[in-house]
Amino acid sequence: MIFELTEEQRMIRDIARDFAQNELKPGVIERDEQQRFPAEQVKKLGELGFLGMMVASKYNGAGLDAVSYVLVMEELSKIDASASVVVSVNNSLVCYGLEQYGTEEQKEKYLKPLAVGEHIGAFCLSEPEAGSDATSQRTMAADMGDYYLLNGTKNWITNGGTASTYLVMAQTHPEKGHRGINAFIVEKGMEGFTVGSKENKLGIRGSDTHSLHFSDVKVPKENRIGEDGFGFKFAMKTLEGGRIGIAAQALGIASGAYELALNYAKERQTFGKPIAQHQAIQFKLADMATQIEAARLLCLKAAWLKDQGQPYAQAASMAKLYASEVAMKTTVEAVQIHGGYGYVKEYHVERLMRDAKITQIYEGTSEIQRMVIARDLLSG
Ligand code: CAA
Ligand code: FAD
Repeated sequence: MIFELTEEQRMIRDIARDFAQNELKPGVIERDEQQRFPAEQVKKLGELGFLGMMVASKYNGAGLDAVSYVLVMEELSKIDASASVVVSVNNSLVCYGLEQYGTEEQKEKYLKPLAVGEHIGAFCLSEPEAGSDATSQRTMAADMGDYYLLNGTKNWITNGGTASTYLVMAQTHPEKGHRGINAFIVEKGMEGFTVGSKENKLGIRGSDTHSLHFSDVKVPKENRIGEDGFGFKFAMKTLEGGRIGIAAQALGIASGAYELALNYAKERQTFGKPIAQHQAIQFKLADMATQIEAARLLCLKAAWLKDQGQPYAQAASMAKLYASEVAMKTTVEAVQIHGGYGYVKEYHVERLMRDAKITQIYEGTSEIQRMVIARDLLSG
């Protein structure tokens, strides 16, 4: 078993680390406060190839592996999870879905601009009444011959206002249940498609989360992804890889908070010595570091399995479940180690604590990850 990264993987991680320090850190507090999308930074991430990292070069992608993707997600998320969620959604939900299941024409038209960040993508599964229970889709896509007529509402869509390309799941044959669901490529600007107001959130406040409304939107038949009725499987297969991205985001939030807490503990003095010399603080740091390392190994294992072409759904769910819980615990402890200073914005850890919470909710809550893992365990 080899735990060493390749030279290329280390180089990519270092580029992401420098980018996070030099481009994401300045202004991260203001963007969070003002709920401002990191537009300039996302453009630069596209130029670096980080928005189509695993896409083949013939579709303008960087052709990298999933391990590199985890490394990049960790580094970006240490500093700005609002930016890293754009990277995660664009890479693993949108580009991956199109590259894996799209037609050649769909890849030419939609994947190529997404892979370089000329366009941003969104993945639209959740609805007001269908979150965890994703099979109960109410958005309807009536088959009208050469087009589908789309009606309904999607909720909580990341990149909802910024995206140009939306992958939308909708029900075509309600009598068939989840086997009647289709996935469609919907373009911003299609008549009848409107973006609702932006959500005012606890964390990842720079991320652009909206509801979307479809009223008699004509979607050409060639914009359906896969065979008739493939939409739910499309969403589930795509989410397997998405969960690796969010697991790595959670890992990054945790390791960012840990690094801040470690440095602070070495500097802050109480009772005549740095707080890092008090055993109670040392034990917190030891637990944080141990749990982060375990989360990192789970993330890398899931990515490695994906790179090897082996099944990785269970590993991805384990990584997301564990890393998101570590992110929550670690950020709470990082605030505690900072004392009162941890409670104010300048020290960054309060933002990381608020950002951590979403990793236990989106792309399947912790309860859903446990369901996926348990079903896999029991199916053998
Ligand atoms: N791969 C392929 N097919 C799969 C699959 C997978 N990983 N998981 C399930 N399926 C198939 C099943 O085989 C079944 O098909 P058949 O009947 O044809 O065999 C079908 O899907 C339905 O599966 P279940 O019977 O298991 O369905 P369920 O309703 O009991 O539960 C679930 C499914 C796993 C709970 C699913 O609904 C789920 O994942 N829910 C969470 C939704 C979610 O993660 N949403 C995230 C939205 S995107 C997002 O959040 C992005 C962001 O924030 C940035
Ligand atoms: P519910 O499904 O109503 O769940 C409520 C609670 O009940 C949760 O704790 C859940 O775990 C629990 N629960 C539900 N069923 C069970 C069960 N069977 N057993 C045990 N516990 C259960 N969706 C998209 O499609 N695209 C996006 O880009 C996107 N981005 C998002 C960004 C943000 C900031 C947020 C907040 C959400 C986003 N989502 C997105 C939606 C997200 O995936 C859902 O919020 C999530 O899947 C949970 O669904 P819900 O909110 O309807 O909660």
